[in-house]
This record gives sequence, C-alpha cells and structure tokens, in this order.
Amino acid sequence: MRNNLTQLPLYLFCCLSLWIFFIEMAMAQNTTIPVKVGVVLDMDTWLGKMGLSCISMALSDFYAYHGHYKTRLIPKIRDSKRDVVGAAAAALYLLQNEEVQAIIGPASSLQANFVIGLGDKAHVPIISFSATSPSLSSLRSQYFVRATLNDSAQVPAIRAIVQAFGWRQVVLIYLDNEYGNGVIPYLTDALQEIDTRISYRSVIHPLATDDQILEELYKLMTMPTRVFIVHMFAPIGPRLFVRANEIGMMEEGYVWILTDGLTDILGTLDPSVIDSMQGVLGVKPHVPRSKKLESFKIRWKREIQQEYPTNESFELNIFGLWAYDAACGLAMAVEKLGATNFRFQKSNFSRNSTDLDTVGVSLIGPNLLQSLLYTRFRGLSGDFQIVNRQLQSSAFEVVNVIGKGERGVGFWTPENGTVRKLDSTSKPNLGTIVWPGESPSIPKGWVLPTNGKKLRIGVPVTKGFGEFVKVTRDPSSNATKVSGFSIAVFDAVMAALPYAVPYEYIPFQTPDGNPAGDDNDLIYQVYLQVS
Ligand SMILES: *[C@@H]1O[C@H](CO)[C@@H](O)[C@H](O)[C@H]1NC(C)=O
Ligand SMILES: *[C@@H]1O[C@H](CO)[C@@H](O)[C@H](O)[C@H]1NC(C)=O
Ligand SMILES: *[C@@H]1O[C@H](CO)[C@@H](O)[C@H](O)[C@H]1NC(C)=O
Ligand SMILES: *[C@@H]1O[C@H](CO)[C@@H](O)[C@H](O)[C@H]1NC(C)=O
Ligand SMILES: *[C@@H]1O[C@H](CO)[C@@H](O)[C@H](O)[C@H]1NC(C)=O
Ligand SMILES: *[C@@H]1O[C@H](CO)[C@@H](O)[C@H](O)[C@H]1NC(C)=O
Ligand SMILES: *[C@@H]1O[C@H](CO)[C@@H](O)[C@H](O)[C@H]1NC(C)=O
Repeated sequence: MRNNLTQLPLYLFCCLSLWIFFIEMAMAQNTTIPVKVGVVLDMDTWLGKMGLSCISMALSDFYAYHGHYKTRLIPKIRDSKRDVVGAAAAALYLLQNEEVQAIIGPASSLQANFVIGLGDKAHVPIISFSATSPSLSSLRSQYFVRATLNDSAQVPAIRAIVQAFGWRQVVLIYLDNEYGNGVIPYLTDALQEIDTRISYRSVIHPLATDDQILEELYKLMTMPTRVFIVHMFAPIGPRLFVRANEIGMMEEGYVWILTDGLTDILGTLDPSVIDSMQGVLGVKPHVPRSKKLESFKIRWKREIQQEYPTNESFELNIFGLWAYDAACGLAMAVEKLGATNFRFQKSNFSRNSTDLDTVGVSLIGPNLLQSLLYTRFRGLSGDFQIVNRQLQSSAFEVVNVIGKGERGVGFWTPENGTVRKLDSTSKPNLGTIVWPGESPSIPKGWVLPTNGKKLRIGVPVTKGFGEFVKVTRDPSSNATKVSGFSIAVFDAVMAALPYAVPYEYIPFQTPDGNPAGDDNDLIYQVYLQVS
C-alpha cells in the first residue's frame, strides 16, 4: 500500500505526459502551411466575378476533399480595374507586399503582356485562365502558364469544315483588337494550305455603332463570297447577326461559321438573337459531361444567386471551368512540393531604387513551376494537362444553331479530324446541318456579284418542239412553268458550276409566233441577260 502511494505521482505524471503528447500529435496533424497566391482579375466584369467565385469554390472543394493535405492556398485578391497598367500594378503589389508564390490571372492577353515580365523576374508562375491570344506564346516566358486554350487551337477545326464543304473562298469578320488580330495570321495560313482564298477581311471596331456594322454588311452583300468566318465576342457579335438577319444575309446560300468566342456563349444569348442566327455553324472546345460538372453547375448557380441576388443574367461559361481547374491544379502542384519553406529572397534595394527593383525572388519558384507543368488530373473542363506551358486541347465540338438553341453535329479531334461521334469509328463527316434559310442543301459559298438580282434567261414561247422548250401557264396562280430537254440541260449545267448563280426563265413571244429555225438554232434562242 505504501508502495502504491509513492508511485501515484509518477503514475499521474505519466498519464499527463501521454495526454499532452497525444494533444500535440493531434495539433501537429492539424496545422497546415499557408501558401499565399495572388488573384488578379477585372473585378467589375462578369469574367472577373465568375472567375473569382469559381476559384474560391475550387479551393474549398479541394481542401474539403483532401483534408489531410499539408498546404493551404490563401488567395490574395487585387483588382486590375480593366487596365493593362492596373494589372501590372496589382501583380507588383502582390509580389512586393504579400510575396505570393503564384498569381492566377490576369484576365486579358494585353494585361498578360505586362504581368508576364514580373513573373519571370520574381520566379513566380503567372497562370491565366482567359488570356487566349496566340501572340503571348512568342514572348517565350518561363513562368507564364496558360490554363486555357489559345485562340489558334481551333483553327484546324475551322479549316476542316471549310475543306469538307469545298468552299474556295471565305470572308473573315473580326474585331480590330488584340483578340481579333491575334488569330488572323493562323487562319490565313491554315486556309492557304487547302487553297481557300480569303477574298476580304472585314475588320470591325469593338465599339462600332449599328450603322457602321450595317454599312459593312451591305458591302459584304455585294461581294460574291457567301462564306463568313466570324471571330468576335459579345455583345458586338450578337448585334452583327441581328443586323445581318434584318437585311437578308441569313437566307439560303449564306454560310456563317463562328469561332469559340461566340459559340461558347450561344446558350446564354437572348432568344431574339438566336432567331437571327438560324443555320449558323460554330466551333467550341468540347467539355465532356460528368456528374462532377453537373453538380458543380447547380452549386455554382446557388452561390452566385446568393452573391448577386439582383442579377438574373449571370451564366457560367467555359472560362469559369478553366478558372476552377487552374486553382485545383495550382493547389495540387503546391502540395506536391511538401512542407517546403515558401519564402522570398529580398533583393537589396537602395533608397534610389524604383519599385521594380524591390521585388524579391521566390526561392521555391522553379520547383513550383516544374510541379505545375507536370500536374495532371481530370478537371471540370476535361483532362488538365499542360504541354508547352499551355493547356492541352483535346476535341472541338461543331454545333449548328437550330430553333431555340444549338445542336451538336460532330467533333474535330487532332487525330481523327471531323467525326460524328468521339471515341468511335464513326463516319468521318458531320451530321445533318440545317443551313441559313432552313436550306437542306450545302451552300456553294459563291454567287455572281449581282446583289440580289437574278440572271434572266429569255425563253421563246413556240408552238412546236415542246420536247425542247415548253412554256405552260398554271391557270390558278398564273405562274409560268418552263420545261423541256434544253431547259433540263441548262439546269444541269448551272447546278454543276462550282458557284451558285441565281437565275430565272423569262418566257417571251417570238415575233411571228412561229418556231424559228431548226433544232440547232433553238439553243441560241436561250438568251442570257443580266440586268
Ligand atoms: C483541426 O482544427 C479545426 C479548427 O481549427 C477543428 O475544427 C478540427 O476539428 C481539427 N481537426 C482535428 C483532426 O483535430
Ligand atoms: C495553340 O494551341 C495549339 C493546341 O494546343 C498548339 O498546337 C499551338 O502550338 C498553340 N499555338 C501557339 C501560338 O501557342
Ligand atoms: C448583370 O449581369 C450582366 C451580365 O453579366 C451585366 O452586364 C449587368 O451589368 C449586371 N447588372 C447588374 C445590376 O449587376
Ligand atoms: C546584396 O548585398 C550584399 C552585400 O551588400 C551582396 O553580397 C549580395 O550579392 C546582394 N544581393 C543581390 C541580389 O544583389
Ligand atoms: C542616389 O541618387 C543620388 C542623386 O541622384 C546619387 O547621388 C546617389 O549616388 C544615388 N545612390 C545610389 C546608391 O545609387
Ligand atoms: C480516333 O479513331 C479511332 C478509331 O479509328 C478511335 O479508336 C479513337 O478513339 C478516335 N479518337 C478520338 C479522340 O475520337
Ligand atoms: C392571269 O393573266 C391574265 C393575262 O396575262 C390576266 O388577264 C389575269 O387576270 C391573270 N390572272 C391572275 C389570277 O392573276
């Protein structure tokens, strides 16, 4: 008993230490390493608001799922205020004052031009989910990672469509800005490879008025080419189609092909705009269906409605999905580095130094960059894989605007070209397309430049030789009907021309009402006249 009593303090001490040990273990397990990352977006734009909400949802989803991960991304948000210098200033602030290890953003390619240099200087990866201009690739920046497709990735898909229908010439309609001009050299080269000529480039100012758009459209109307490739975004793109429809450029014979700028947002356009775009073809990156995506869309809708209850028109688009995937990819890349020291080396700066000289260098930068470049996973937008510092493109979807919306008519993949269905040995062509004017026949893409006037073909009304040319009158409608062998031959010749010539037969009475000459002469009596 005495023995036991003396041992009690020891026993208690042991218990207590064990207990403290366990608490410390639990706390150690629960401590995470905060890693600051910058977010630079234009906060008063839809892209900025959507991007930000997707990034924050991505991080909360990611750490909810991977609760045991050691690192935690802490977003530090700065507004670039729709300004190229604003974006640079925001990035500089984040590098200097927050010492962020990576920056998600900026929104536009022009802004990226400025921010990229800062990333290289500070060894901090700049990850943009929306700077799509191919020209950024030529900067050969070490630290710029594009978590989005560049605008020229879709060019082979557009070329394949033009080639499939044998159009020999096209007109390009594009915005006079970085977005518009960036892709044109790639389109020009791609079309040249299949001997398709760009007969005209219609460059539209981003702030063009409706009158200026109309003037341009009337000019296009007088030209023979009927295939238009439109590389624009909203809201000017939809306005162009409303005007084109008004003046009869969405009729039979016309072909309109959209790049992803407008195809991506077809689902969000007003029904009246969709009415004006009937028969249009479009190309956009293919987003595979998944349960994860469906559930995300529902949750996102709920969140965004809570945040902006007064605005009904907020819609999720592919840039939101890329923002989500970029944030998850970065979180993964950081976690892979493990419990490293996320520090900056401060540069020596004198009182004379400009702000730029005071930017330090991220010590972990090169490792983080490598980790990010090798991060692969199945994201919301499809497979996330960075090749040549850009998101790898998989497939493009080809859609046709019909009725209230769009209908998929096929895909384009780098391996198999245009196909009806993905991952199958389906036919190498597209599904049934309803062309403008609800026409089922493939437009020839070219007409005689008659500006709506038809070729008028005089047909002599004769008494005999009905088997060659016969003019009959429908008593109910008074319309004349022209038939016979010569007419059939003429129709066949016109149909075989590589371009469309609108024409009509105009019956006329020969002076004496008699058949003139013999059979051979008859052929000369089909008079051609363009009025
Ligand atoms: C970790 O800490 C959080 C609060 O900081 C707490 O809610 C959670 O229960 C802790 N988890 C463990 C395993 O201790
Ligand atoms: C654009 O993306 C495509 C597909 O990923 C790639 O092949 C091409 O090299 C890229 N172009 C530029 C200029 O970065
Ligand atoms: C609502 O959203 C639309 C499209 O994103 C935007 O143009 C508009 O300014 C917003 N309105 C308000 C009141 O926020
Ligand atoms: C900073 O200054 C110290 C001593 O003045 C020098 O040894 C070092 O190389 C400098 N570092 C940089 C990055 O210039
Ligand atoms: C700072 O600027 C002053 C005047 O312009 C100059 O005299 C001085 O040498 C500069 N100091 C350094 C460290 O560059
Ligand atoms: C390409 O075609 C082959 C068969 O011809 C098919 O196995 C493969 O899945 C297709 N690839 C894609 C991306 O559709
Ligand atoms: C048909 O044409 C004749 C003469 O060309 C004219 O007298 C008649 O009224 C027309 N009928 C109709 C229904 O237009």
